Amino acid sequence: MAADFEPTGSPGNIGLEISHQPVLVKEVLEGLALGAQAVVLDATVGLGGHAEAIAQRLGPQGSLIGVDRDPHALAVARRRLERFGQTVRLVQGNFGQIMELLDALNVKDLDAALFDLGVSSFQLETAERGFSFAREGPLDMRMDPADRATAAEIVNRASVEELIDLVRTFGEERWAGRIARAIVRERPFATTTALAQTIRRAVPPGARHERIDPATRTFQAIRIAVNQELDLLPQGIDQAVGRLKDKGRIAVLAYHSLEDRIVKRAFRAKAGEGILEIMTRKPIRPSEEEIGRNPRARSARLRIARREGS
Ligand SMILES: C[S@@+](CC[C@H](N)C(=O)[O-])C[C@H]1O[C@@H](n2cnc3c(N)ncnc32)[C@H](O)[C@@H]1O
Repeated sequence: MAADFEPTGSPGNIGLEISHQPVLVKEVLEGLALGAQAVVLDATVGLGGHAEAIAQRLGPQGSLIGVDRDPHALAVARRRLERFGQTVRLVQGNFGQIMELLDALNVKDLDAALFDLGVSSFQLETAERGFSFAREGPLDMRMDPADRATAAEIVNRASVEELIDLVRTFGEERWAGRIARAIVRERPFATTTALAQTIRRAVPPGARHERIDPATRTFQAIRIAVNQELDLLPQGIDQAVGRLKDKGRIAVLAYHSLEDRIVKRAFRAKAGEGILEIMTRKPIRPSEEEIGRNPRARSARLRIARREGS
């Protein structure tokens, strides 16, 4: 499987200057088929990269609602998008709250919804958030800092069996047993880099990939568990599709096969019920040119579907 990719370059700056480039922007815009009066949900507004491109397409009657569970990302998006005035409204919340958030803003139906899953480079590159194995920081990994469980709690408290299961299931890591036993032997851990060292040593030298850090899959697994990412994703798709107008579009960008599988199954199930028409038989992948410009795009897979008329 493809795992989330963490570029191993030098850290970028934090804030608006951060190097987050939105992925497959042209394809997302085409896929969502936006008119100037569209009402659009960006459920993962992040640093506002896709949102900015969407807002530029909207006229005064159009509206974009940007959601993110990360208040720090929202603060950056707010600055980036402030020039669009009332056209763009930003709210904090997670996928499980989409209906509630839309109700609170008095938004009934959507012409389009976008999900750009996973972490942003802002989160990865801010060492104190603890997402990155390449930057020393506390073992945190919470997208919403108000959530209860941190990565440290999972890593330092879970049983060896729980860790094996977590690393195998959410990281699809073949060395899950060795890694989990090494973690239990050497814990407690306080920092990302100390944990990454232990994981690297647990993977046999012959099995190490030239370009991908051996800690990649385990960090992905812990992050997914901390943020309950795979539980919330079907809820998000379900709630957004439930609010789409007839012929309204949904676009989902996934960055690893676990996520992509959930999207594919959710779309298929809704197509089976006559609710969605799948527009992408195979997911859209970025070009070599885009990957060269933006390494984070490497594992991206975009799926688009359209609400069937009732
Ligand atoms: C890849 S980034 C989005 C980047 C954005 N499209 C841009 O162009 O700047 C993913 C964002 O989704 C947010 N996120 C992930 N899971 C979420 C969830 N269940 N509910 C709300 N936001 C979530 C993360 O906090 C992160 O900011």
